[in-house]
Amino acid sequence: MLGRVLLGASRSQRLRSVVEKAPVSRGVVARFIAGDTTADAVRVTRELINANLTVTIDHLGEDTLDRAQADAVTTEYLGLLAALKDHGLTDRAEVSVKLTAVGQALPGHGEKIALENARQICQAAADAGTTVTLDMEDHTTTDSTLSILQDLREDFPSTGAVLQAYLYRTEEDCRALASAGSRVRLCKGAYNEPASVAYQDTRDVDRSFVRCMKILLAGEGYPMLATHDPRLIEIAGSLAARFRREPGTYEYQMLYGSRPTEQLRLAQAGETVRVYVPYGDDWYGYMMRRMAERPANLQFFLRAIATKK
Ligand code: FDA
Repeated sequence: MLGRVLLGASRSQRLRSVVEKAPVSRGVVARFIAGDTTADAVRVTRELINANLTVTIDHLGEDTLDRAQADAVTTEYLGLLAALKDHGLTDRAEVSVKLTAVGQALPGHGEKIALENARQICQAAADAGTTVTLDMEDHTTTDSTLSILQDLREDFPSTGAVLQAYLYRTEEDCRALASAGSRVRLCKGAYNEPASVAYQDTRDVDRSFVRCMKILLAGEGYPMLATHDPRLIEIAGSLAARFRREPGTYEYQMLYGSRPTEQLRLAQAGETVRVYVPYGDDWYGYMMRRMAERPANLQFFLRAIATKK
């Protein structure tokens, strides 16, 4: 219930300006977000790589309704990829892109604009020696995002997809995407979805996650298992053994600031662990989703406000 309220709040402009202006907010978000600038993203990426982790970097922002802004975000990614290359980090760091940040939601030709912008980013990533993963947003974008993915994969076959276990359709999408070389991130799903398209009970979402893992691990692609859930991580380990998957033929993914000790434990055990590192000043929607899925994150935020008074 609280989660749904917070997910609703993640789209409220009024609340957004209050939270963004609260002086305490900056300190709290620093735990989950690398900082405002490309230099911050590069610094945190280097620290994580030095700790034997791999990274995917997201420039924060979504639901852009302004063409100039969509193009500016694209330019930002090109700069980020150049910086990662200059710092010699592209063998262990890639980027994650939200298509609505590069134009998908623009009226008229949004999908075409997003495809063109994403293509530029994929080309820059290929030139830098790394890859791109297309984040998945709410269910109204799923078909369009998978169609853009298919187009991009013709030229950039390593472009990663994201599938959300809470959607009824996802088992079928896993089957379609479990082909050789196909990088697929599986997550539970972070948006406020109706019962017409998504499981509402967390136990059903978890069961779907397990069924999807089975399909991806049994397939020929490269599964990227994105969860902090200890039970699902344990099941992932036994399924990987059952399907004779060696470490390095799949990976675990977690968010920056979430279960850092577990990230290191898995990496020390020889697993590939990729940390999703967001940066930029447009952090409101991202932070509200993190608080919606984990009351402890909300408590952390509220405690910080209380102790500042
Ligand atoms: P969930 O939040 O359901 O927690 C289950 C249990 O795990 C908790 O009860 C607790 O025991 C434990 N746990 C969780 N977090 C913890 C923590 N920080 N510390 C200690 N214990 C914790 N979503 C989306 O819609 N599109 C996308 O593109 C992506 N991309 C993405 C990338 C990566 C790398 C990750 C990790 C996640 C995403 N997500 C996403 C978000 C995802 O869909 C989901 O909302 C969150 O990961 C939360 O779900 P979990 O599976 O982590 O467990």
